[in-house]
Amino acid sequence: MSSVVVFFSLPMLVASALKELRVRPGQDATLQCWGPRDAHITLLEWSRPELSSQGYVFFFQDQRSYENYQHESFKGRVQLRDSSMKDGDVTVILRNVSVSDTGTYECQITTSSTRNGERVVKEFKHSINLTVTINISAGHNVILPCRAPNIDSNSKAVVEWSRADLGKDYVLLYRDEQPDPEEQHPSFKNRVDLQDRQMKDGDVSLILKDVTTADSGTYECRVFRRTNRRMRANLETDPITTISLNVAPEDGVSRGHAGLVAALSLFAVIAASAIFIKLKPPSPPLSFPSVCIKNILCL
Ligand SMILES: *[C@@H]1O[C@H](CO)[C@@H](O)[C@H](O)[C@H]1NC(C)=O
Ligand SMILES: *[C@@H]1O[C@H](CO)[C@@H](O)[C@H](O)[C@H]1NC(C)=O
Ligand SMILES: *[C@@H]1O[C@H](CO)[C@@H](O)[C@H](O)[C@H]1NC(C)=O
Repeated sequence: MSSVVVFFSLPMLVASALKELRVRPGQDATLQCWGPRDAHITLLEWSRPELSSQGYVFFFQDQRSYENYQHESFKGRVQLRDSSMKDGDVTVILRNVSVSDTGTYECQITTSSTRNGERVVKEFKHSINLTVTINISAGHNVILPCRAPNIDSNSKAVVEWSRADLGKDYVLLYRDEQPDPEEQHPSFKNRVDLQDRQMKDGDVSLILKDVTTADSGTYECRVFRRTNRRMRANLETDPITTISLNVAPEDGVSRGHAGLVAALSLFAVIAASAIFIKLKPPSPPLSFPSVCIKNILCL
C-alpha cells in the first residue's frame, strides 16, 4: 500500500516534568508525562526497561488500557491521572508503592495528526527515576526487603548486601549457610542478619538492628549460586533490589542532618524532557500515484 507516513520532527514543549521522584513505601507515586496538546494520542506505553520483557507498567491504545499487557506487579495499581488525557496529560498514578518499585520509568507516546494531507506520526519519550525511600528514626530495627526467586537454603546461594559508598566492604556477605564476617564493614558487626536464614520463597531480606543516621544510604542486594572459587563475587552485576534508607535522628537529637536529607529529598530537577524523535527518511518513489486530498489521510 502506498502510505505516505512522515515522521515529522518538531521540537515539542513538554511542561517541566520531574525527572526524579522520591516517595515512601505505601504512598502513591505520580509519574508525570505530557504529550502534545493538540495531537491524537494513538499509543501510550509506560514501561520499566529492566522489566520490559515481562510486560508494561501501563499500556493504552485505541482509547483503552490493556491489563493483559501489564507486568504482574503493576496490575490493578496504575491508572491515568486524567482518563481523558486532556492537553496531552498522560501522567499515571502508581498506587501503594513498595521498595521494589524503585527504578526508571519510561513514558512513550505516539501521536498521529494530518498536515497538508500527509499523515504525521510522532513519538515522544520521557523518563523518570522513582526512588522509594524507607524512612525510620535512629534506634529502631529495619528490614530491607529483597526476594530472589528460585533460591532457598538448599541452593547454596551467596547473598551479598552492599552499599556503594562503603567500597569493598560488605554490609552482609552470607555464604556457606552463615554470615562471613571477614569482609564486613565494621559498622555492621553484630547488627545485621538475613531475616530468614532458610531463605524461604527466596526471601533474602536483610534485618538491620539499632540503626544510626550513618546507616542512611543506598543498599544493594545481589544473589549468586556458589562457585568453587572463594573469590569475591561480582559487584558489577545489576542488583536484584536497590533500597534507599533514610535514618532520621532520634527525637530530641539535633535535627540538622534530617533537615539536610529532607531538603535533598525534596530537591527536584526541573528540566526539559529528553525527547527522541524518530526521523524517518521520505518514502521511496511510489509504484502508483498517491492521491492526497487536503486534510485526508493518504494511506
Ligand atoms: C500495599 O502493598 C502491600 C505489599 O507491598 C500490601 O501488603 C498491602 O496490603 C497493600 N495495601 C493496600 C491498601 O493495597
Ligand atoms: C536515572 O537512573 C539511571 C539508572 O540508574 C541513571 O543512569 C540516570 O542518570 C538517572 N537519571 C537521573 C535524572 O537521575
Ligand atoms: C522521616 O521520619 C522522621 C521521623 O521518624 C520525620 O521527622 C521526617 O519528616 C521523615 N522524613 C520524610 C521525608 O518523610
